[in-house]
Amino acid sequence: MNKKYVIANWKNTKTNKECVDWIQTVGPQLESQSNFEIVVCPPFLALDAVHQIVTDIGYGLKVGSQSVSSFDKGAYTGEIGAFMLEGIVEYALIGHSERRSLKHETNEDVQSQVAQCVAHKINPVVLVRGVEDAIPENVGLFAWEPVSAIGTGQAIEANQAGETIAGLRQGRSLQGIYGGSVNSANIASFMQHPEIAGVLIGSASNDPTNFLEMIHALR
Ligand code: PGA
Repeated sequence: MNKKYVIANWKNTKTNKECVDWIQTVGPQLESQSNFEIVVCPPFLALDAVHQIVTDIGYGLKVGSQSVSSFDKGAYTGEIGAFMLEGIVEYALIGHSERRSLKHETNEDVQSQVAQCVAHKINPVVLVRGVEDAIPENVGLFAWEPVSAIGTGQAIEANQAGETIAGLRQGRSLQGIYGGSVNSANIASFMQHPEIAGVLIGSASNDPTNFLEMIHALR
């Protein structure tokens, strides 16, 4: 059976110190999880510090970025290229709906970002709002995040999420996870669903105690 994922997306909410404190609080409380992978996605600035701790101490955590540049190395002011992230992150979130709406990222941008990830040994996790957002061919993991469920407390029911994810897969062998108002009361329903390969958690992952409560709900 394929491994399942719990991915924490901290968005633009934590300083470096807060990211490190979170890891040092949560890390020692985690038992080694053989059946699912926990990935934390700090802001770019904290990736190096988080990667260092996770490499030195382990804790069974993996590190991901929240985005990656569409461009290769070069004259692109303000960009963070995949070549900089190589060796620091194992995963990169690509095409979050907030980036599609606020930064006008398109399916073409997503395609370029996936190519950058692949070239630099990073696993892309492509986030889609629905069928309008294409999942490029060389992607193994995607997340369905309906906009109505993001940050609203209105999660989609697990069976409906499972059906939608199965539909988005279109017969391909890729895995699909669910994101949108996941919390300690509903996380198990998503994780246990055979069509759902895990969860992507925003606001409920910010607080270490909340996060641990969700992990404990999976025991
Ligand atoms: P939420 O965010 O868990 O706060 O709904 C999910 C996401 O945007 O990835």
